[in-house]
Amino acid sequence: MIQRDIAYRVRAIESLSPTLKRIVLESATGDPLPVGAAGAHIALTLKCGDRILRNSYSLIAPSDGTGRYELIVRRTDPSRGGSHFVHDELTVGAVLAGYVPHNLFPSFSHARKHLLIGGGVGITPLLAHLAALRREGARVELHQLAAAEEVALFTQLLAPWAGDDVQVHGGREGLDLEALLSRQPLGTHVYVCGPAALMDRVEGMAVALGWPDGRIHRESFGASGGEPFTVRLARSGGEVRVGPDESMLQALENAGVAAPSLCRGGACGECLTRVLEGEPEHRDHYLTAEEKASGQFVMPCVSRAHSDMLVLDL
Ligand code: FES
Repeated sequence: MIQRDIAYRVRAIESLSPTLKRIVLESATGDPLPVGAAGAHIALTLKCGDRILRNSYSLIAPSDGTGRYELIVRRTDPSRGGSHFVHDELTVGAVLAGYVPHNLFPSFSHARKHLLIGGGVGITPLLAHLAALRREGARVELHQLAAAEEVALFTQLLAPWAGDDVQVHGGREGLDLEALLSRQPLGTHVYVCGPAALMDRVEGMAVALGWPDGRIHRESFGASGGEPFTVRLARSGGEVRVGPDESMLQALENAGVAAPSLCRGGACGECLTRVLEGEPEHRDHYLTAEEKASGQFVMPCVSRAHSDMLVLDL
């Protein structure tokens, strides 16, 4: 049977700044942790008061036999509760339920060069990629965009790989994206993680400059926003409003609905849910084109709705 659930113990917590904490996890049972390749994330179950949240966090270092996973969590305001729990209540020794790592953001070994672009805490999976690619001797360049007050912090995090091809851009200095993408050799793959606006900008600019789709990669787990809509639960009779900045899955979990999930990125099929009425907006990589066209199924971890209301078999 494929292992999916893991009990993690918090081995260390380090305050990097007033809003960023580095968390080190180990197995709570003593069993070895599965490999967590660069780009992978884990989902953790967090008890916030009387609510249960499942949040996904990228591993900041490849974990192949180290027996631990490292994350960085930013305290956000407003928060669904998860980041405040991690910052205010989580202590060393605490045990958290979670899932095994999933990798929806891998690097491509055939790339001639890897261009990594991060924004804020979106640097987390790129730190793992940078470490792995440098270890492999691959050609890699990283640009991190940061608020002026966080330039020093990100520069310090990137210090082990310091050089001309690792740069932090802060405050008003910005980054000439068009020039950066234009000067890359043919065969380069670009990987971006950060605020949706940054990922949209990088993707849009790369497409406009003629980069093939298969060479543009963005981190895709977690909430991806859109127009709000309402989910009606056919079996229980309830209704859940999905806000513009949360996923359907998050809204269901916040409302106490026991919705299944695993990868939380539209890849594994675990959250497959039957649609009884309404028009889904498919954003997953799991359903076939025919299944999407039928409108009979939706993956709530990433997909949304074109209609104001979706009636689900939940
Ligand atoms: S949880 Fe994996 S596809 Fe939704």
